Order: sequence, then structure tokens, then C-alpha cells
Amino acid sequence: MKIQFDDTNLLAGMVGEKHGLASGELERESAFAIEALGSFRKSCEEGRYGFPHLPFDTATIKSIRSYAAGLSGSFDTVCLVGIGGSALGAWALDCGMRGPHPVQGSFTAKHPRLVILDNVDPSFTASSLASMNPKKTVVVVVAKSGSTAETIATFLIVREWLAKAGGKKHTSRIAVVTSEGPGDLGALAAREKYRVFGLPANVGGRFSVLSAVGLLPAALIGIDIGKLCRGAAEMTHECWTPDLRANPALHAALAHYLLLTRKGKSIQVAFPYANRLWGLAFWFRQLWAESLGKAKTRDGKIANLGQTPVAALGTTDQHSQVQLYIEGPNDKVFTFWAVAKSAEKGRIPSAKLGLPAFDYLAGQSLAKLIDAERRSTAAAMVAAERPNCTFTLDRLDEAHFGAFMQLMEFETAFAGEMLNIDAFDQEGVELGKRFTFGLMGRPGYEPFKAKFKEYEAKGKAAR
Ligand code: PA5
Repeated sequence: MKIQFDDTNLLAGMVGEKHGLASGELERESAFAIEALGSFRKSCEEGRYGFPHLPFDTATIKSIRSYAAGLSGSFDTVCLVGIGGSALGAWALDCGMRGPHPVQGSFTAKHPRLVILDNVDPSFTASSLASMNPKKTVVVVVAKSGSTAETIATFLIVREWLAKAGGKKHTSRIAVVTSEGPGDLGALAAREKYRVFGLPANVGGRFSVLSAVGLLPAALIGIDIGKLCRGAAEMTHECWTPDLRANPALHAALAHYLLLTRKGKSIQVAFPYANRLWGLAFWFRQLWAESLGKAKTRDGKIANLGQTPVAALGTTDQHSQVQLYIEGPNDKVFTFWAVAKSAEKGRIPSAKLGLPAFDYLAGQSLAKLIDAERRSTAAAMVAAERPNCTFTLDRLDEAHFGAFMQLMEFETAFAGEMLNIDAFDQEGVELGKRFTFGLMGRPGYEPFKAKFKEYEAKGKAAR
């Protein structure tokens, strides 16, 4: 497993002093970074944060594998009901390992597909249900809290759909992943005898992909979760190394922290050059946004911190976003994600057609072209003084995928320490959730319904 981080194009010598890091700046701040690593490690040792331990949890990996093996051959679709951190990891793994969307190929009992019901768009839900055979579907419901309105509402629909088609036996094809401890989803699972997989209390939703949250759907669609976790375990050792140059997560976290706080790069564009990494870019977007976008520092000072993550796909978005990236506001840092060894080369036929726009490409490959496009975009960004850096994954397999996810979780945790914020809460989304509960009539949330009415009245008065 090999993942490299190249920071050359973040340096002032490449993009100018105004936008780049001075030579030796990272080294001068390495004690600060190592201190961040130390304080995060201490919190983990005290049991506050659990994601670094997940790849070593062989008992969970074993029980998921045996559950998946027991059902193998009896389904062609896994229907995941969940949202946010309870869905994006599985989506990223599906896209990365089973194949890029929307061209994954046919699905069979040997090669089941994943359908994720996250958004409560009624038309999307109806179309999804119409596309699945309830007798050949395994349902995985994921909600750490056990009470997320979107997940519960969708599950009630899916549960009825399954029961109508499958009679009493349908409950054997429902599995639940929820927080260890009391919760309404857990209570229903116990009542209806669904298989339950626990999520440790110290693992937050967006850091949970290597728990049953991501591993269960992954195993059901045929991903080798052992290899995934072995790659992540190997990366975990690298991420605990108190040496900036031997620890890509710490190195990248410090670079992004400095670009945000000293150079005003308030946007980070995650720019994979592989369709298989496109789902991962959306997973990363949530991880970076929800973890680092915070009103207050740990000591209670209002700071409104964060770096807005944007997902772009190379080469597609060269023809959509790069004009803005190169000539628009210089408020972004670009993080390219490259794959060194592509499984397919995409050989371009060598026959010449006597046409200049065609013939120079003859006999070359798409792998060479996409690599040239990424390096050319990086060079063009340097010419426009736009700082950019690159993660290079040696190849795209389970081990590298697991390692890269673990790297990004560590990078996020380290960046949170450097910013002196709590990267593991999400207070900012709570009020909206409470308003929804109030509007949908959940007992106990009447004050939020009243508050919502005040907001509507304010809108009328403001006109
Ligand atoms: O990262 C998080 O904690 C959130 O994005 C949650 O994953 C999301 O809100 C879904 O929560 P739950 O798993 O409780 O349904």
C-alpha cells in the first residue's frame, strides 16, 4: 500500500509569496503539528474518539462476513436506508470497488448492487422501490441516533413494501446498524427480531465507514472488507507517526491549516482524476465540512471557522469549473487525487486517419492522456498562482481505498486539533432537525413548531 502526498505546488517558490507557503514554513510548524497529533492521540487513548481502532476490530469484521456469507446468493440488491455519515461511506465504497456510477453493469445474485435511499424525495423513493424486487432485496437500515426523520420515514415505507411481498420471513432480510445503547430503532429491531450490528458510541457518523455502517453494505455487495481494513490498519500506523514527512495525514492537515489561516484559502477543491473516486469526493466533502465548519473554538470563542470543500472530477470539470478556478477569486486550494497504476489502460487504436486532431493520439492510451491532463492542469494553476497539491494512490484496490479513507479521517481530526475546535460534533444541524420534528408533529417539539411560526411571521413583516 502506497499513498503519497506532494506539496510542491503549495510552495511560494511555485505560486508566489501571497498564495504559497514559504520555504521551510511547514518544517518550522512541525512541532505545532506533532502537538496536535499528541493531543488527538491522548483523547483516543482516553476513549473519546474511536475511529482509529475500527480497522483492528477483527470480531466485527468476522461477524459481518459470516452474516453476508449466510445470505449470499439469496439477493441481487442491497437497499441501504440511511443518510449523511450513515450512507456516504457505503456509496463511496460501492463506486470505488464495485464500479463507477452509472455504468456498474448488470446485477445478479453473484454480483449484487447497492441502492441507497438517503433523500426523502418521494419520486426518487418510488422509482427506487419500483426498480427492486422485494424478494431479492436485503435491507440495511443505518442510523446512529436511531431517530433521524428521513431514515425512519423511508424505513417505514420499505418495511411495508417488504412485508407485503415477503410475509413473515421478510424480517430475516432486514439488518440494522445503530448506536450501542438505547434508541427507538434498536427497540424496533429487538421487537421484530432484525439482525443488529452496533456502532460504538465514540465513533461519529462521518467517521464510521470502517464500522458496520460501511462494512456491512460493503460485504453484502462483495467487497473484500478484510483487505479494506488491512489497508486502513497499515495507514493508521503511518498516521500515528510523529514525523511530518512520514505521515501524509499530518502533513496534509498542516498544509491545509496554514493555507486557510495564513493565505485565506477558504475553499478546498477535492479533484479526483478517476471516476471510481467520485463517490469518495462526496464522502470527503461531508467529512471536511461537518467536522471543521464550527461557530466556536474549544474555549468558547466565536470564530466561524472552516474550509468549504468542493468536489470536482478530472477531466470532466476541466471543461466546467477550471475557468473559474484559474481566473476567479484566488481563495481556493486544489487537492488532486491521482492513481499511479490504472487497471485498464484504454489503448487508443494506432491507425492514422490523416487528420492532425486525431493522429497524434493514435497508439497512445487514455491512462496517459488523463495523467497528462492532470499534470497540465496543475501546471496551469501554478502559472495563475493557484496553490495545489496531490495525493497519489499507487493503485485503486480495497487496501488503498481503506487506507485513503483512514488517512482523510486522521487529516480531518488533526486539522480540528490545529483549529482548536471540536471536529466531532455537529451542533449546526440540530436546530433545523428540531424544526422538522416540530413541523411533523413529534411530541416534545411543540416549542420548535411555535418558533418556526415566529420565523414565518418575521418573513411576512420583513416584506
Ligand atoms: O456525521 C454525522 O454524525 C452525521 O452526518 C450523521 O451521520 C447523519 O446526521 C445521520 O445520522 P444518523 O446516523 O443518526 O441517522
